[in-house]
Amino acid sequence: MNKKLLLVVAHKPSPNTENLAKAVMRGCTAVETKNVEVTCLSPFDATPNDVLSCSAIILGTTENLGYMSGAIKDFFDRIYYPCIEHTQGLPYALYVRAGLDGTGARRSVETVVKGLRWRSVQEPMVLQGNYKVVFADQCCELGMAMSVGLETGIF
Ligand SMILES: Cc1cc2nc3c(=O)[nH]c(=O)nc-3n(C[C@H](O)[C@H](O)[C@H](O)COP(=O)(O)O)c2cc1C
Repeated sequence: MNKKLLLVVAHKPSPNTENLAKAVMRGCTAVETKNVEVTCLSPFDATPNDVLSCSAIILGTTENLGYMSGAIKDFFDRIYYPCIEHTQGLPYALYVRAGLDGTGARRSVETVVKGLRWRSVQEPMVLQGNYKVVFADQCCELGMAMSVGLETGIF
């Protein structure tokens, strides 16, 4: 049987955001799964085919100028029309790393995924303010929840 693909599309322009993406991946692979395969891609490398072939997606963005990162915006610009008719209901989760706020980035992503009609299966996580070690723990838990959800067919 074909494995279900859990796709992580994470923008990680700094050591802290690199840590967060690694923590998500650690969580995704922490529990042994028979049916789930996990891939992490930069938003610049992720293609419409990657999205069309996944069963769930985790999006990771920084907040830049009150919006999602340019990298994630570029990703959405490229995948939106090729995917819109084929990925309705796709389970997704979002984490935002924001030096100050994060609500603008969250809202901007939610606007796009609403258009795509993807389905939120985890409360979006906004990791704001000074970087804290606990952020990585939260990302790890998010990855684990998505992987287990997909494995057990909860989504
Ligand atoms: C050009 C630029 C714009 C930014 N704009 C915002 C912003 O609007 N809101 C915010 O909370 N943080 C903003 N930041 C901070 C980034 O979100 C933060 O540096 C990034 O998430 C990386 O986190 P780190 O510093 O922990 O590595 C901005 C950073 C840059 C470089």
